Amino acid sequence: MNTSNNPSTQTPLPSRMPQLRVMPMPADANIHGDVFGGWIMAQVDIAGAIPAARRSNGRVATIAVNSFLFKQPVFVGDLLSFYADVVKVGRTSITISVEVYAERNRLEADTVKVTEAMLTYVATDDDRKPRIIPDLVTL
Ligand SMILES: CC(C)(COP(=O)(O)OP(=O)(O)OC[C@H]1O[C@@H](n2cnc3c(N)ncnc32)[C@H](O)[C@@H]1OP(=O)(O)O)[C@@H](O)C(=O)NCCC(=O)NCCS
Repeated sequence: MNTSNNPSTQTPLPSRMPQLRVMPMPADANIHGDVFGGWIMAQVDIAGAIPAARRSNGRVATIAVNSFLFKQPVFVGDLLSFYADVVKVGRTSITISVEVYAERNRLEADTVKVTEAMLTYVATDDDRKPRIIPDLVTL
């Protein structure tokens, strides 16, 4: 059942570029036919790792999922956009905020914020040990 026609749940998409866009398929659904939360968590982890790896200039490993809110259900066929931003840079860790929006019934521009999460990644070296995050280079 699609419940997104309620205007109070509709949110415009942010104007910046998402890190990731993906559409869940029937194989990503749970036994009730809605999208499985674990599948959404995996996509959030991928989206968050992109700015973390870029900022740390190398590989990262997820050390913590600090918070995760499934605010609205996700349906098979929704077009999901994942927005991921650096919120904190530590000595070896980077904390990333991820927001997920679903475009449902896309021809009707029906957009809903479905998920918010905060994750921490650690920059790692070739031995999978923490490494110091380099300073930002400004050109
Ligand atoms: C990532 C890993 C290499 C870090 O090694 P570690 O010895 O545990 O790291 P440290 O204790 O030195 O902490 C590293 C950083 O993580 C931070 N950190 C540790 N525990 C944390 C937590 N629970 N929440 C948030 N940040 C945390 C530390 O504060 C530190 O950040 P800082 O240097 O910016 O201050 C190691 O924990 C690991 O390999 N974990 C498995 C990673 C993985 O497989 N992820 C996918 C799982 S599905």
